[in-house]
Amino acid sequence: MKNILVTGGAGFIGSHTCLNLLERNFRVVIIDSFDNSSKKVIDKIKETCKSIDKNHNLNLEVFIGNLCDRDFVTDVFKEITKQNRQIDGVIHFAGFKAVAESIIKPLSYWRNNVIGTLNLVEIMDDFNCKNLVFSSSATVYQPMDNLKLKEISKLGPINPYGNTKYTIEILLKDLFKSSVKNWKLASLRYFNPIGAHSSGLLGEDPKDTPNNIFPLIANTALGIQKELKIYGNDWPTPDGTPVRDYIHVMDLALCHVKVLELLMNSESEYLNLNVGTGIGTSVLDLVKTFERVNNVKIPFVFDKRRVGDASYVVADNSLLMSKMNINYFRSIEDMCRDGWNWKKLNPKGYKET
Ligand code: UD1
Repeated sequence: MKNILVTGGAGFIGSHTCLNLLERNFRVVIIDSFDNSSKKVIDKIKETCKSIDKNHNLNLEVFIGNLCDRDFVTDVFKEITKQNRQIDGVIHFAGFKAVAESIIKPLSYWRNNVIGTLNLVEIMDDFNCKNLVFSSSATVYQPMDNLKLKEISKLGPINPYGNTKYTIEILLKDLFKSSVKNWKLASLRYFNPIGAHSSGLLGEDPKDTPNNIFPLIANTALGIQKELKIYGNDWPTPDGTPVRDYIHVMDLALCHVKVLELLMNSESEYLNLNVGTGIGTSVLDLVKTFERVNNVKIPFVFDKRRVGDASYVVADNSLLMSKMNINYFRSIEDMCRDGWNWKKLNPKGYKET
């Protein structure tokens, strides 16, 4: 049974990925600081696993700490080695991710995201663990109006959060090109992950007031916020609202595991991969679909454009599809249904449950 280290495994995408790894019979070792996530997530991952198959393996260990603490990370690797096991691969989610906050606190973002990753790969090297899937973002691209983004499209993030992702990609590429030729690395450039596990046991639980559209739609449906502000209806898109490539978090989670399996079974490799469905959905389409599928009302008003937004951010996912044996992605209806099911059952996230 292979051991996979998941940094940030208690976060939104991390927790769904851990579930997927357990379902596929990996042994999961989580490192999380729990600064931005709840400890209850761990029980929820186990509960979800049991709800799928009551005899399922629950090989899940958790180490609490930060990647910036080298001694802590080294101790985690040592502890696994002491048990005559080895970390066979790493999926690296841990990092700060709020764009607006990154503009206010760039140094925290650089320290936490870049130094944390540097420590992690150095320690992986020390312990001869060479398989890494990194959680990057479509934010590394320069958006192009009405053109799907390819892995070879022009890069150029416009905020410190995006710069840290971009920098880490460069670091990993340099590592791949180094004289030590056995690294197998992938940077997954996510588009817009939404939704939740269909059981309603696992979902997104932002610690602070959310800025992303989906939690805000759900909050509006619950009446926590009176109305949704739609940032601009004068964009050069069919209905005037911005278009994004929303992907169900369970599909995104599966992609991580499939990419890791691909790396573990391949020669030395460095991959940048877009992870999106390739389908564009406007803000207005998303709101209308959420209302229709869930039979709720989302009062909204049009507001002015948000600084830093782009009109159209959609993946060309042909590389992902050619590399992976994936034949379908969950629909925007599935995303709205599962995301609302989670929110309805857990209006205060993990706090109440
Ligand atoms: C944001 C981040 C991106 C990150 C991604 C996923 C920015 C500039 N980019 O992307 O780096 O990878 O989240 O977490 O923050 N919208 C409204 N009303 C709202 C909130 C959003 O109309 O109250 C609109 C936005 O204008 C946008 C769309 O909804 O067109 C999606 O917004 P959001 O969920 O914040 O994601 P992105 O901006 O695409």
